[in-house]
Amino acid sequence: MINVTPSGEACGAEVTGVDFSHPIDAETLRDIRRAWIDHKVLAFPDQHLSDQDLERVTLLFGKFGAEPYFETIEGSQHVVNLCRRADETAPVFAEAWHSDWSFQKDPPIGTCLYSLVIPPVGGNTGFANQEMALEKMPADLRARLEGKTALHSAAAAYAPEGVYGEKDKETDRSLKIVYSETAREVFPHPFIMTHPESGKEVLFGCAGYIMGVEGMGEEEARSLIMDLYAWQTREEFQYTHKWRENMLVIWDNRAVLHRAYGGYDGYARELHRTTIKGNPEQFLRAG
Ligand code: SIN
Repeated sequence: MINVTPSGEACGAEVTGVDFSHPIDAETLRDIRRAWIDHKVLAFPDQHLSDQDLERVTLLFGKFGAEPYFETIEGSQHVVNLCRRADETAPVFAEAWHSDWSFQKDPPIGTCLYSLVIPPVGGNTGFANQEMALEKMPADLRARLEGKTALHSAAAAYAPEGVYGEKDKETDRSLKIVYSETAREVFPHPFIMTHPESGKEVLFGCAGYIMGVEGMGEEEARSLIMDLYAWQTREEFQYTHKWRENMLVIWDNRAVLHRAYGGYDGYARELHRTTIKGNPEQFLRAG
């Protein structure tokens, strides 16, 4: 029997009564999945997981997602080491809101992040509830989005001239990023989609990976994307996750945006990450 304690913020809950280093029975897994869909971000404290355990947990939720722009750790094709040394000066990775790999045709439905080294200050992860952001959205903004398709691309981040491209290689970043020409590919997803497991409408993706709007001029598209961004990342929709070591967090990329926070210069931070790919029917449906 699991215990689920909501964060009291816009989403997120802490779950105890489960030990992911052991097999999980079907009933417990059903309860965890229900809680995941309800709360969108689940934090499991006091987990002692090897990388093999992390891979096994990932497969409880779906299949492995592809990692297009990270080198994985030695011995695994799926686990990425999100690390920053105490003396590192490269800008903190992913300090901007996003939904993981939203520029893919089948973006990962979820992400697992397991904490190995956590600084005594800073290094939180922010989440923004996109079901709530849509539910509370002013009618005029919703009308501008209704029926429109966003064009997603990784170019601004992972193309050679992107934020994590050639220039970033000159920094002392320890996270192993692999930039590529393939980042210029564009993939469309509607702005408003239906979550197949909750049945609720959600906003999918945000500025950063959303580069344009199908059939819309550049200027109008930019203004819509930025108005949406200002709304969907409002503080009232946020949950700020504070890490402890040996904590596993699993979030639903179909229902939240997330971002990293810095504020821990002088301290190391290390987390291992996998992404979860769903079956086609588990990804969002056009609204
Ligand atoms: C990410 O997966 O975007 C990074 C989150 C974090 O480092 O807190």
